[in-house]
Amino acid sequence: MNLQNNPQLWANFQTINRTRRAIREFDNTPIPDDIVRELLNEASLAPSSGNLQPYQLHWIKNAELKSQVALACNAQKAAKSAAALVIIVASPGIARDTAKAQLAYVEASDSLQEKSKDYYRKQIVKFDRILKLGASACWTPLVNIGSMIKPGLSLLPIGHTGSRHWAARNAIFAAQTLMLGAAAKGLDSCPMEGFSATKLADLLGLKRGSVIPIVIALGYRADQARIEEQWRRQLADVVIEH
Ligand SMILES: Cc1cc2nc3c(=O)[nH]c(=O)nc-3n(C[C@H](O)[C@H](O)[C@H](O)COP(=O)(O)O)c2cc1C
Repeated sequence: MNLQNNPQLWANFQTINRTRRAIREFDNTPIPDDIVRELLNEASLAPSSGNLQPYQLHWIKNAELKSQVALACNAQKAAKSAAALVIIVASPGIARDTAKAQLAYVEASDSLQEKSKDYYRKQIVKFDRILKLGASACWTPLVNIGSMIKPGLSLLPIGHTGSRHWAARNAIFAAQTLMLGAAAKGLDSCPMEGFSATKLADLLGLKRGSVIPIVIALGYRADQARIEEQWRRQLADVVIEH
């Protein structure tokens, strides 16, 4: 298929992108497990810094746990009525595990050329070093002070909070892929950051250092679901041409 300037493909993308809305009330139609699995599979293809994929997608299948998770999501209607809930969990620790797995993959690969292997080795070692030494809490005050002078430093994956923020923002790409994928399957979604992080971490038994950037509710919109007109700022305010 010719992907370049393909109007049908663009029309499909627009349809998917514009059908995706934050839906806060779902009907009680269940989502077949295979579909959720397909969506999670696509989400796992999202890009990430250094391909370190510093996240895990917790698909809550157990009914009892699902209702506890919904309560921890401030009992939001979207969470309570969702047919499926996916909690996105991120941490620098997951990134370090990925680095190990990626290095093992590179070393064992018969298809990668030596030049590529060298590139990957250097990249992985560099990222791993940043995450290992840089994630220490002792850097946090320094980064905080530094970022008062140079705001750009705020986003460095350095310090215990900086590295968690880094992991969380990487995870968001997977979350968005999941929601666009859901729209392509005729499913609705609601991203939620209205939750008790402490309660969710307890329910999932998360390791220290894990953060939850977002919870995604999935389901089929209820007939009575309230859907407002989609409002955005003027493009001229959003897009600055240089
Ligand atoms: C990071 C993030 C957190 C959000 N948290 C919630 C939430 O807790 N509850 C909720 O009902 N909607 C939540 N939303 C949905 C937004 O309110 C919604 O995306 C926005 O109003 C735009 O509407 P649209 O997605 O239908 O275009 C969240 C969205 C994002 C991106």
